[in-house]
Amino acid sequence: MLRRLHLDQPASFAFTPDNLAWAEAQITKYPEGRQASAIIPLLWRAQEQEGWLTRKAIETVAEMLGLAYMRALEVASFYFMFQLQPVGTVAHIQVCGTTSCMICGAEDLVAVCKEKIAAEPHEVSADGKFSWEEVECLGSCSNAPMAQIGKDYYEDLTAAKMGELIDALGRGEVPLPGPQNGRYAAEPLKGLTTLTEMDSGNHQYNASVQLAHDIGDTVKRIDGTEVPLLAPWQNSGKSAKKPAAKKPAAKAAAKPAAKKAATTKPAAKSAKPAAKAAKPATAVKTGPGTAAESKPRTMSAPRKSGADDLKLISGVGPKLEGVLNELGFWHFDQISKWGAGEVAWVDSRLKFKGRIERDGWIEQATKLAAEK
Ligand code: FES
Repeated sequence: MLRRLHLDQPASFAFTPDNLAWAEAQITKYPEGRQASAIIPLLWRAQEQEGWLTRKAIETVAEMLGLAYMRALEVASFYFMFQLQPVGTVAHIQVCGTTSCMICGAEDLVAVCKEKIAAEPHEVSADGKFSWEEVECLGSCSNAPMAQIGKDYYEDLTAAKMGELIDALGRGEVPLPGPQNGRYAAEPLKGLTTLTEMDSGNHQYNASVQLAHDIGDTVKRIDGTEVPLLAPWQNSGKSAKKPAAKKPAAKAAAKPAAKKAATTKPAAKSAKPAAKAAKPATAVKTGPGTAAESKPRTMSAPRKSGADDLKLISGVGPKLEGVLNELGFWHFDQISKWGAGEVAWVDSRLKFKGRIERDGWIEQATKLAAEK
């Protein structure tokens, strides 16, 4: 299946403050240098927030993790859990079309989706509530045919049952997930032939269905009412300490900064002094194939007229803008004055080697400064 970015893309993306806190907490789960491992939860959270994965969302996540956009797009376009185009507001239905399900009637389920939702996969229904697609094996072959609706599996489906499910969801109901033909789980259709003395332990539903029933978020999307789900070592989402996620620059500058920071800044703000601590280092190192670093002129705060919107520079998202501000860059004309040494200095603190030149930040900043 061809999976491409949707042609019609929104101009921007930003995590809500709660989702940003959640996302940053996820990053701290991984050791230094391995933050890219957080890509799937972050992409998923972005999709949960927006309903689908926009180009700007993918770029924002890439920036947060210090990844090239292409690397993030590779992940987003590989897994069909990620929707690269708008989906129905109530549910996106994924019908399994692989062997077991196909033999047991997946084509009939697809026919119902075509009739009740839209003629083509990934097309949103006229009322905007539903969309559908055919996907590869979802690992529930013994309960074929089946479909994933929202977060849960509906198994042992028939065309009639599929129609009923869509109608019920359209009315705002959430039918119970799991087998739809009366089976408890994946036992033989005619009943147990072995281990017949085993019972369900008085559980009304099998474990998966019970959990889906208890959580109740089959088709629920993030709406800001959820309890923040943070890393266990972060208290109430208020900890600003992200020890593993800091830039290499922060490490390098940590020692000289430590004494000053200890007397002036509370521990909770330990992330920021790293950028300030970089000040004493003016021209430091050379690397293979790079210019000698030369510290650009930085500012401790924007001018009275207010900071420029650095996100207008293509390649700079909200996260990167925050980092630039931390480093002391608030205005287009500051960036427009960078030479090779300054670019090397900033580059080494952004973790995105070559990004500044590749995206033409200086040319863009010069133009934006002139247009002001
Ligand atoms: S073939 Fe449909 S779940 Fe495996």
